[in-house]
Amino acid sequence: MSGPEAKEKHDSQMPRGSQAVFGYSTVAADEKPQLVQDHFSSSARRYDLMNTFMSLGVHHRWRRIAIKMMGLKEGDHVLDVCGGTADLAILAGKVIGPKGRVTLYDFNRDMMEAGKPKVARASLSDRIRYIQGDAQEISLPSGRFDAAMVGFGIRNLTDPNRGFVEMHRVLKPGGTLMCLEFSTPTSAWFRKLYDLHSFLYMPLVMRTLGRSMPSYTYLPESIRTFPLPDELSATLEGIGFTDVTYKRLTNGISVVHVGRKK
Ligand SMILES: C[S@@+](CC[C@H](N)C(=O)[O-])C[C@H]1O[C@@H](n2cnc3c(N)ncnc32)[C@H](O)[C@@H]1O
Repeated sequence: MSGPEAKEKHDSQMPRGSQAVFGYSTVAADEKPQLVQDHFSSSARRYDLMNTFMSLGVHHRWRRIAIKMMGLKEGDHVLDVCGGTADLAILAGKVIGPKGRVTLYDFNRDMMEAGKPKVARASLSDRIRYIQGDAQEISLPSGRFDAAMVGFGIRNLTDPNRGFVEMHRVLKPGGTLMCLEFSTPTSAWFRKLYDLHSFLYMPLVMRTLGRSMPSYTYLPESIRTFPLPDELSATLEGIGFTDVTYKRLTNGISVVHVGRKK
């Protein structure tokens, strides 16, 4: 997909006036945060299991590749925006060593609580700290972090660009940005297969494991309204990131973007 079609897709994710995109629906912008909170509160306890079933386990590999692309160093301070149940925080925590720190920033307490036993099992509780807050207004000073990452989170924001602007603000000059997000497979036959997976298999997993979830189609719908990789690169460059590159994973089901604050 390219040109006007891609542009239309990109624009569809952007908030229009006081409206926001929620899956394929448009909702009042001030309603979206509560809808997103309800979605994650209802799935927090089974989020990891659902992830593994829905991605058939591949998400672990995607995360390892994404962390490797960040080029983290020992002692780095890393911000994990929309950090949820801490899968990326744990991987980063192992690389940065005992002198490094990960700050996991998420507005949903249930998701953060669900991840804490995993962090303890990985013996990383002293390296990972938690802050509950909105990624669109990060309550931390500017220029503090060596790296900022967001995994499968940015598309949930009412204004994703605002989240990237905030990540840019809290990075030190030269700091690294990483965004791991679902996207659209590149080959037509794979896209058809992925549609079946998204709209038949994924809702089935959610119905079975996340029985009280308010929406079974929010996840696949929100993926399909998110900007394509080139569009997202352009957005990141517009915000002030440089050396922006991306890598498609599993035929483009997921994409890792990395960039650097000038
Ligand atoms: C799909 S989960 C991803 C969790 C984790 N990063 C991962 O890789 O598994 C999305 C997370 O984003 C969080 N989130 C959504 N909107 C947010 C916002 N405006 N501010 C902070 N966190 C938000 C949710 O609470 C949820 O934990």
